[in-house]
Amino acid sequence: MSSSHFEIAIDGPVAAGKGTISRLVADQLGFLYVDTGAMYRVATLMAIEAGTDLANEDAIVRLIRSGFIEMRNPTEYEKDGRLTTVLVDKKDVSWAIRTEKISSKVSLVARLPRVRQVLVEKQQIIARAQDVVMEGRDITYRVLPDANLKIYLTGSDVVRAKRRHLQSLQHGEYVTYEEVFKELKIRDHNDMERVNDPLRIVDDAWVIDTSDLKIGQVVELIVNKVRVMQSVQGSQATVNH
Ligand code: DC
Repeated sequence: MSSSHFEIAIDGPVAAGKGTISRLVADQLGFLYVDTGAMYRVATLMAIEAGTDLANEDAIVRLIRSGFIEMRNPTEYEKDGRLTTVLVDKKDVSWAIRTEKISSKVSLVARLPRVRQVLVEKQQIIARAQDVVMEGRDITYRVLPDANLKIYLTGSDVVRAKRRHLQSLQHGEYVTYEEVFKELKIRDHNDMERVNDPLRIVDDAWVIDTSDLKIGQVVELIVNKVRVMQSVQGSQATVNH
């Protein structure tokens, strides 16, 4: 069991609904939402903007360490559909990290062991300070192995590709469904075959298949479960007092 803070760790493949669901769960529970994928995307954007070879691990680690990366809840003025606001040296890159260009390159950076090590440490520091809903690809077994609640969100590849396609169109990126599906299969392969820490389902994870569920239903399931866990913890604390 984790520290005095409550940790919800969520893993799962691309477009399983992790971001939207985590954001809503965090809002309802008053927890901080942490999108760890955004951190790997920032590393990729920084490397591309600096003209760095995406295999140059040392240079990318230096870039991450030297840049001032901030992640926070969107303010009233920033509510344009984003789930989180990401700043690098005070510049808003929340949408710049979501383009197909970054999506197609990010797994090259995410497979670099020292980049992962630096980002995992940053994520653990964030979780130590407050209640969190943290989502990504290695949260349940690497970043927060003692999380109070571990969830693996998944969905069929067709449903996930349709969702991602719709999101791209909504953001003015005119890609075809076939392109999105192909990209998703490549990214699934990269996540699951990653030599360093591949995406996997831990034994104590609650597996939720979101293919046939509405977002609100998944959010309700998770929020209810956390409330029950918190009330049990609260009453145990009273008994032990
Ligand atoms: O969730 P996303 O699509 O924004 O993730 C971007 C990339 O980062 C994707 O290739 C998976 C990788 N990633 C990772 O390796 N570990 C994490 N904890 C989060 C994301």
